[in-house]
Amino acid sequence: MKRVHVPEIEDASWFPSGLRASMTNLIVVFARKLGIIPVLGALVSRALKAGKLGRVVDLGSGSGGSMPDLIEQVRVNPETANVELVMTDKFPNPEAIARFNDPARPYLTYARESVDATNLASAPSGLKTMVNCFHHMRPPQARAILESAHRERQPILIYELQDNEVPFALWLLFLPLGLAILFVMALLLTFGVRPLTGRQLAFTFLIPLVPMFYAWDGQASLPRIYTLKDMDELLAGLESADYVWEKGYAKTEQGKKKGIYLLGMPR
Ligand SMILES: C[S@@+](CC[C@H](N)C(=O)[O-])C[C@H]1O[C@@H](n2cnc3c(N)ncnc32)[C@H](O)[C@@H]1O
Repeated sequence: MKRVHVPEIEDASWFPSGLRASMTNLIVVFARKLGIIPVLGALVSRALKAGKLGRVVDLGSGSGGSMPDLIEQVRVNPETANVELVMTDKFPNPEAIARFNDPARPYLTYARESVDATNLASAPSGLKTMVNCFHHMRPPQARAILESAHRERQPILIYELQDNEVPFALWLLFLPLGLAILFVMALLLTFGVRPLTGRQLAFTFLIPLVPMFYAWDGQASLPRIYTLKDMDELLAGLESADYVWEKGYAKTEQGKKKGIYLLGMPR
């Protein structure tokens, strides 16, 4: 397997939730700038229509990520106009809970209780999505998630914003440069965070813990991503006539690669 489990700071249960939220806020802005919503939205729509599903259960939602905006767009289509989104996380984000559990938009909710993606049975029914979250799972956990989706005939869509094609030695060589680039990027992305809190500003510009940790976790997450070949290893033995796996590069309408995905659907 090419994947290497470089430690990420946000995986630590003792890591302060305010700093974790500030870091995932930056991912929301980054994903928006990269324009992944149409690409991911097309995959989500296809899975919803194929399975005639009315609910998306997002695992590892962080600050919500791209999913709330994506669901708004999916609901524009009459075929998927009633779709609802339930966001969940192992470390639920209190600010996202307050923001998204809004009676004005009853089709968006963020679960208050911790939902561990490795225990799919505990999640509500619907299309499970894991956006930039699957790389947090070590191979036995990742395999257990896929096994459980297959065993329970549950639809699941895994998406990673980036792929992991760079050799690990090259990643190590360019690590200092990569860290510097992500640090500066974190400073710039901060201006796109909404709502922009005093905590986000203070821990970015006064005590720059957020850009430091964002840079580290951003770099560490690259070698942790399961390549398409790694996914083949994880999926060994999980083929059956009544459940189909599809994987590949997610692409824009113009054919430009934007991340990788794995979609598992009961037939
Ligand atoms: C890189 S963030 C991605 C957040 C969001 N999906 C996005 O795209 O902006 C990864 C998220 O996965 C969550 N996470 C890590 N391990 C998890 C697990 N075992 N079960 C559920 N969530 C997990 C983290 O708390 C974090 O919020």
